[in-house]
Amino acid sequence: MTKQATTPAEAVIGQAIDRVDGRLKVTGRAKYASEFPVEGLVYAQGVNSTIAKGDITRIDTAAAEAQPGVIRVITHENALKLASPDADRLELSTTSIAPVLQSPEINWYGEWVAVVVAETIEQAQYAARLVEVEYNRAEPKVDFAQDAGYAPDVQPKYERGDVDAGMAEADERVEVTYRTPVEHHHPMELHAVIAEWEDENLELHLCSQMVNDNAKGIADTFMIPKENVRIIAPFIGGGFGSKLQAQEHVMLAAMAAKMIGRPVQFTVTRQQMFTNTSLRQENLQRMRIGATRDGRLTALVHDTTSHTATNKEYQEPCGAASKMLYKVANNRVNYNLVPINLPYPWAMRAPGEATGSYALECAMDEMAWKLGMDPVEFRILNDTQVDPSNDKPFSSRLLTECLRIGAKKFGWADRPLEPRSRREGNWLVGYGVSAASRQAPLQLSAARVTVYRDGDTVTATVQTDATDIGTGTYTILAQTAADFLGIPVAAVTVQLGDSRFPISPGSGGSWGAASFTNGVRAACMKLMEEIKVAAGTDATEGQGIADLMDDADLSEYAAVGSAAPTEEFKNHSVYSFGANFCEVWVDVDTNMARLKRILTVGAAGTILNPKTAYSQVLGGLVMGHGMAFMEQSKVEKQYGNFITRSLADYHVPVNLDLADVQVVFLPEDDKIANPMGVKGIGELGICGVAGSLANAVFNATGKRMRDLPITPEKLI
Ligand code: MOS
Repeated sequence: MTKQATTPAEAVIGQAIDRVDGRLKVTGRAKYASEFPVEGLVYAQGVNSTIAKGDITRIDTAAAEAQPGVIRVITHENALKLASPDADRLELSTTSIAPVLQSPEINWYGEWVAVVVAETIEQAQYAARLVEVEYNRAEPKVDFAQDAGYAPDVQPKYERGDVDAGMAEADERVEVTYRTPVEHHHPMELHAVIAEWEDENLELHLCSQMVNDNAKGIADTFMIPKENVRIIAPFIGGGFGSKLQAQEHVMLAAMAAKMIGRPVQFTVTRQQMFTNTSLRQENLQRMRIGATRDGRLTALVHDTTSHTATNKEYQEPCGAASKMLYKVANNRVNYNLVPINLPYPWAMRAPGEATGSYALECAMDEMAWKLGMDPVEFRILNDTQVDPSNDKPFSSRLLTECLRIGAKKFGWADRPLEPRSRREGNWLVGYGVSAASRQAPLQLSAARVTVYRDGDTVTATVQTDATDIGTGTYTILAQTAADFLGIPVAAVTVQLGDSRFPISPGSGGSWGAASFTNGVRAACMKLMEEIKVAAGTDATEGQGIADLMDDADLSEYAAVGSAAPTEEFKNHSVYSFGANFCEVWVDVDTNMARLKRILTVGAAGTILNPKTAYSQVLGGLVMGHGMAFMEQSKVEKQYGNFITRSLADYHVPVNLDLADVQVVFLPEDDKIANPMGVKGIGELGICGVAGSLANAVFNATGKRMRDLPITPEKLI
């Protein structure tokens, strides 16, 4: 056997290695929440309300309970008492207490009204149809456009300078409102959970983006210590934000398991994922931009009106980028939230920034057109190295470089200047551009690294409660440990998603990769230091881990380390940046728009693995394409139910829609962001995409698309 190199010949971080868990996934051996074989498992089926507002007056479960295999039907009349709602529901990334089945009140169409537990899923599904519910129906508010209208005088949430003065001194003004529809996350893996109690201890197999946070929310809901809740989540089939929270069905599964004393599996159906696992709210965004004739911004106002549930509040921060992306002295961002009888909104990929960047980047394009300026040059002219919202320098910001390099690679110079001026056969051709930005947070993140020596060979196990939601966490953590321990990737085993492992912030907010890898790095460095000390005076610089462990007479050793933001981090604004360039063709007869090619240039610090990073950004571009051209959840206005109720009518892009996609990462070394220099990309990829596509449609057709999605009838 060849001896392991004392230091790897080449760092594996930065290499486009295959996913270490890829084989497990493609062979079906990776276990997802609903697939764990649990002895004595029974099945729950949720029952949904058929009114959008009112009260249950009578609920009859006798027929359902009489069916073979049915163990229990739980309603608000016999449900376990859960904790009351917490006051601060606006706090992002914190699982709220989720009281469910606690009252006869109905807040939206499809709200859970009962859960049927049976020996088989088929028995539960059949019996669920036999639960009879009578209501006292009240008139719901479900029409956001009608019920919200536009409220201009909402309380300012953020303001600098004097926006009225800024608008007054402008030579050109753009004042327009953009609308984005309700969207749903729809990860491939349905929301699923298996819950099992042993005395006061609850164990859950749960598709969870944030294990530690969810354990807290579940514990709070059942009023037990967090330590009593164990979540196991090794694989998650996508989340896009919908699995950040432990949602109500998770509480129902745990409640049912407790009431009947058996493990319960609860899978939310695809149809129920329209009404019971959150959504991206519809937004009306009024943009007011002023600029001087030579292209300098004088004012930027971003007013957002959104809806929320009548019993829960959430507001996606559409104005986030409008505060910091461009140099403008006079700036206001505010929000107006209208409670209506639709399911509760919640974070969906780049919450606020995906939708906000559509409005901002379209408004910037409208202004550039008014000024007669190249929209790339207009953005560059208003670029800044200091965050105007807090006067902190950016830790790194290569926005101008992204725009310039992207323009060159894309062939932006060939852009048709006049809208509707280039035609290829039956198609009108247009080019569009947008800038992209996304906060790159770092959160406290811990990991345990254990090394095992067998002669000259050292293997390692990395444990953290971090999750891999399809993003590549297993792979980048194996790469990180390999480099910092000086062993091959194949010698590293990564274990994730168990709340018994050291605490990470989980997968959300584009902080995952940076936080997890810095946590693993810290653990590895601590371990190496301690082994060196144990090896004593014999230890030399550059000596490999096998020799060090040999000198220290160790066959096994473990260390826990963690990473957290530094003071230097806090004194800077830390963001990833990017630019999107696209070419869209619009058929002159059918008004069908087709993406021909899209190029995105990203600057996000260290790219840990170009293959998984490309995949992340590609996913963002696909979702941005869906946002621009397809995705919308439509409400039936008489009853308040969604009429888009499957993936057959909630359209998402397929391969054929995407054509030519290119992703370029600029080299960037940002040690202020964190020691690994990693900035997030999971959400950057969707930011600005819909804006660039809408801008390309304008360039192709001369029509401004201020209402997504851009479907053919809007282009007539
Ligand atoms: Mo993201 S919306 O924080 O999963």
